[in-house]
Amino acid sequence: MTANPSHRIILWPTRVELSARAGTSLRDLLFEQGVEFPCGGQGRCRGCRIRVLKGHAEVNRAQQERLSPGEIAEGWRLACQCAVEGDLEIELRQWDAAILVDDTPFAFEPRPGLGVAVDLGTTTLVAQLLDLESGRVLAVSTALNAQARYGADVMSRLHFAVLEGGQRQLENLIRRQIGALVEQLLFSAGRLASEIVDVVVVGNTVMHHFFCGIAAEPLAHYPFEPADGGLKRFHSSELGWKLAGDPEVRFLPSLGGFVGSDVLAGILAAKLLEHEELVGLVDLGTNGEIVIGNKEGLLCASAAAGPAFEGAKISMGMRASTGAISQVTLSPPLDPLLREEGSTTDSRSARDGSSQLRCRVIGDGTPRGLCGSGLVDAVAAGLELGVIGASGRFANGETSWMLAEPVALTQNDIRELQLAKAAIAAGIKLLMQRRGAKQLSRLYLAGAFGNYIDRASARRVGLIDFPPERVEAAGNTALLGAKLALFSRDSEGGSYDGLRRRIEHVELNADPCFQDVFVDELAFPPGSPEAAEAGRQAPA
Ligand code: FES
Repeated sequence: MTANPSHRIILWPTRVELSARAGTSLRDLLFEQGVEFPCGGQGRCRGCRIRVLKGHAEVNRAQQERLSPGEIAEGWRLACQCAVEGDLEIELRQWDAAILVDDTPFAFEPRPGLGVAVDLGTTTLVAQLLDLESGRVLAVSTALNAQARYGADVMSRLHFAVLEGGQRQLENLIRRQIGALVEQLLFSAGRLASEIVDVVVVGNTVMHHFFCGIAAEPLAHYPFEPADGGLKRFHSSELGWKLAGDPEVRFLPSLGGFVGSDVLAGILAAKLLEHEELVGLVDLGTNGEIVIGNKEGLLCASAAAGPAFEGAKISMGMRASTGAISQVTLSPPLDPLLREEGSTTDSRSARDGSSQLRCRVIGDGTPRGLCGSGLVDAVAAGLELGVIGASGRFANGETSWMLAEPVALTQNDIRELQLAKAAIAAGIKLLMQRRGAKQLSRLYLAGAFGNYIDRASARRVGLIDFPPERVEAAGNTALLGAKLALFSRDSEGGSYDGLRRRIEHVELNADPCFQDVFVDELAFPPGSPEAAEAGRQAPA
């Protein structure tokens, strides 16, 4: 008889079956399945909620503080606080989310060999193997950043690195993971490691420091300046990668404390320094990055938007994955022809009875939560209907608004969106003011969220106040820029010193006007006269 037998763990709705020994932490077990631990498993955020359908999972003190007695009775637990005690069946709140890759055609100078471009994101990793002669993408691999078990955002990871002495661990994890992705690319394309001649990695400044082994401590406090944000070159063997030929690996340079080489790559991809007219690039995330300018020079800044766009801190927030409401639209009164698979129509009509909500759910089926694009849409719809006033308060004085059972928008969710959108809108406004610009000829939205957000809703809530026809989803510009860098081994060897001299990093917090502009931007634009009238009835 085995002293510590394996137990069977079944995950719903994916029906994945795992086996684990008693005492195995659910955090380690579920992380491998793509479950995220937003606060790094410290039992603070509730983001790792699971529901025990069969079996037993102990409730500790952290769970008693974070879960209501009703939730505990229904089987809800915080996965990061539980361990395997016996056979278990659990329902996950999070499922696989699509990771944005890039297949944009681009011009290039052919060179012999294979190259690898890597977009090292805080949440996700994307790597592509390219034939540098033909420019063809031979293979793509994606993964969740393995560091995510130590926190979903850069601040929690910095906390782990600096205060818990975990930087070396994060460095080893990410180097190993990217090395494995490169091997996976070669395997999928049936090519040899000796054919790789160049690897380019881009990412934010914190990822740069973790990957390159540079002390990240200065990034954890004011003035958040990188210790060394420059171009870093390695032989792949120095990173522990076993690639015949030992190709060079370059991590491209950052532009500032929270503006990394992913933004530099975005500037290359969107050709911002080639435009005559003023253009912009915005990457909407926990740290929103903003670039404004033209061929005469660029201004860049980062704005701390908080995690609302990623569904965190939202009462029923979740990533853009199965079960998330990703789109909320208004439609005329119920019409059976308007019902589509994957759409749920709320049966309650708007205050004037002429409009109703339609919610699109990722993967079809029952709604489970609200992701960033759904949140922006829901608030835009609420403003249009007059359910939400310009101050952000519900007009009827209630504390929540049901979108589609059981997913509701709460007063606090609206506040979180206001904070996030005000940070970005204030950043854009200040950079435009500095540049003396009233309008942009084009605004590129980079990254996954920018790809899915509805431009009209973004304007309605005051996040991106530009005519929708001037706003363009630019896809994964970081990955495209990394690919371009594989072909442009210029005289600066990839340091992009000349280009970086044309980009000025602006410290928004140091701008004396920032706070005032930010506060102004907290309110929502008034919108249509009917909505404004309805909103005026909302308590301030
Ligand atoms: S409560 Fe935050 S990860 Fe578990």
